[in-house]
Amino acid sequence: MLKLSKLATAVALVVAGSAAVAGEVEVLHYWTSGGEAKSVAELKKIMQGKGHTWKDFAVAGGGGDNAATVLKSRVVSGNPPAAAQIKGPAIQEWASEGVLANLDATAKAEKWDELLPKVVADVMKYKGNYVAAPVNVHRVNWMWANSAVLKKAGVTSTPKTWDEFFAAAEKVKKAGLIPVAHGGQNWQDFTTFESVALGVGGVKFYNDALIKLDEKALTSATMTKVLETFRKVKGYTDAAAPGRDWNLATAMVIQEKAAFQFMGDWAKGEFSAAGKVPGKDYVCAAAPGTANAYTFNVDSFAMYKLKDAGAQKAQADLAASIMGTEFQEVFNLNKGSIPVRLNMKMDKFDDCAKTSAKDFVDTAKTGGLVPSVAHGMAIKPAAEGAIKDAVSQFWNDDKISVADGVKNIAKAAATK
Ligand code: BGC
Repeated sequence: MLKLSKLATAVALVVAGSAAVAGEVEVLHYWTSGGEAKSVAELKKIMQGKGHTWKDFAVAGGGGDNAATVLKSRVVSGNPPAAAQIKGPAIQEWASEGVLANLDATAKAEKWDELLPKVVADVMKYKGNYVAAPVNVHRVNWMWANSAVLKKAGVTSTPKTWDEFFAAAEKVKKAGLIPVAHGGQNWQDFTTFESVALGVGGVKFYNDALIKLDEKALTSATMTKVLETFRKVKGYTDAAAPGRDWNLATAMVIQEKAAFQFMGDWAKGEFSAAGKVPGKDYVCAAAPGTANAYTFNVDSFAMYKLKDAGAQKAQADLAASIMGTEFQEVFNLNKGSIPVRLNMKMDKFDDCAKTSAKDFVDTAKTGGLVPSVAHGMAIKPAAEGAIKDAVSQFWNDDKISVADGVKNIAKAAATK
């Protein structure tokens, strides 16, 4: 009897001990703007609620270029963070280095294969094993507009074609306001560029030129038209755009200084953080000519191999939390994106998110669902970097002719 009760106590202690295994989770991310910081704070809260210690490793810089550089040096020096915000083909590149942890046990227990669209699950896996956990789905081909500015300028409907857009931009200019709020990093230029390419050239052109990097498409007459349109958009930005962060450009729209911004729906996180309401204070619409298409951008956390048992447990909890319903709802409400987990209730989400969720499903059926190149979802980092540089050079230097711009971009696309 005594022995049994001793045994029971011992068992209870072991169980209590293992439940209390908590660890530190160091998370590298680049969510530092108002809306982004609010979003990531929710993940921290959930992890702390599970008893873990959150070590925040934020590297400022929209689009994550700075974070990617810092990550490289940490991994190379043998001291990786538990998790890092990376995505698309970069996940595969890291996995092929043998430094990512296998998340299959968590994925199996949490039924990720059933809860994720296949197009997303495939990106999270390397050789069939999960190595990253997806957070959300961002749509990139959005155009944001301030309702009061449009009214002041006499723009009565949201432009649906590029011709309508330029007519509206002209009116805004005449009203003494900035037509297009834009910033100054190459990923911002490319965010606009890929929406122009999609709107002017259509889905097939986008796929051929920017995903398959087909030389014929890249040097076609359509590409010429894309660059002409892209340069025309630049003509409606202000002289102070170079060097500006994306969220400061969004602030110009929020504060009624500018009419439009071409940006993914993390911009909506800024509108929300400022208390603005879609349909009233601002408009979300697909970039001109792109209503039937959807450039997707899935944020995700890749997990790095760690030795400490507590840290491994924290890492598994982080992966499970990211895919959990609580996080998927609250994070995405703040972030401007939609849940990546299928069959989530959308009743708390606004109309922009509902449109995004519907279009994600619809475009997946029609073939209009395409990965964003600007946001690292489509092509290998080397070619992506080279094309981005060529596009930004063209955007920044009006002396580069359209013909030379076409040639430079095609040449960059051949980078291995
Ligand atoms: C990321 C978003 C982020 C944005 C601006 C995108 O590439 O996917 O999560 O908010 O960059 O930093």
